Amino acid sequence: MKSDPSSTSPAASPSSGETGSPSGDGSPSLATVRETRPGDFADIFHLTRKTYPHDVPWREQELRSHLEVFPEGQLVAVDGDDRVIGMAASLRLRDRDYPLDTSWMDLTGRGFFRNHDPDGDMLYAAEVMVDPFCRGRGVGKALYAARRALARRLGVNGIRATARLRGYHRVAPGLDPDAYARAVVQGNLGDPTLSFQLRQGFGVRGVIRDFDDDPETLGFAAVIDWPTRRLARRPVSRVPSLRSIRHRGDSLPAAI
Ligand SMILES: CC(C)(COP(=O)(O)OP(=O)(O)OC[C@H]1O[C@@H](n2cnc3c(N)ncnc32)[C@H](O)[C@@H]1OP(=O)(O)O)[C@@H](O)C(=O)NCCC(=O)NCCS
Repeated sequence: MKSDPSSTSPAASPSSGETGSPSGDGSPSLATVRETRPGDFADIFHLTRKTYPHDVPWREQELRSHLEVFPEGQLVAVDGDDRVIGMAASLRLRDRDYPLDTSWMDLTGRGFFRNHDPDGDMLYAAEVMVDPFCRGRGVGKALYAARRALARRLGVNGIRATARLRGYHRVAPGLDPDAYARAVVQGNLGDPTLSFQLRQGFGVRGVIRDFDDDPETLGFAAVIDWPTRRLARRPVSRVPSLRSIRHRGDSLPAAI
């Protein structure tokens, strides 16, 4: 998300790391994931405009800063004409330095990633977005496959992200956000962001409030993680309550 935040398109494939047909059906892959280049900035600007029409788009100076501090963490999905149809931006952080209720602005160094720590033990997934006309074709999945491959290559303990609960406004105030996240984890409700992230193997560490100012999420987001090694996960039916995550002790387990 960039915030204080189908179509005739082909399936996508990661250019490195996990292999196979991301669409899962063996169809030919006409899009690829590669590292972002300065020549992609204009496309990313337009992609942000389409994805978050009411938000401030990623600006050139922010994207340039991302490439300066952590080029391998910046990925785009491109079609056969090298046109950007999706992007994923990440930085490395020390998990214990960022309590679960840290705001997006603090996690991302106000969008510039200047807080990137080359020795950080986790990859923070600051953004993932796919062109609205290319969704549902495995592009997001391919971006995540490349991101997981990056996490493994770097040897970090895992990937952390904050999934804005974009479907929460549909059920509020009848359902509290913890119960909403639990229902999404259990598959009883679908959320445009969290359902996608769960499909990418994430588990929920907790639900936070005041993450951003957004009428869809009402400020609620789920802090989620994906451990690099297949470690024992907490049961999916148990999503920690809002109160239970307001301490610093709950960090990603170290890779063994
Ligand atoms: C979330 C987003 C990146 C997904 O991209 P996408 O290319 O459409 O996703 P994919 O087609 O690769 O889907 C991957 C899997 O997630 C599932 N999925 C995707 N969107 C979903 C949704 N809205 N509800 C439920 N499941 C969903 C797909 O069914 C697929 O499952 P499968 O692996 O079992 O086939 C895209 O919808 C988007 O850009 N949203 C707006 C930006 C955003 O909210 N980003 C997250 C910021 S926190």
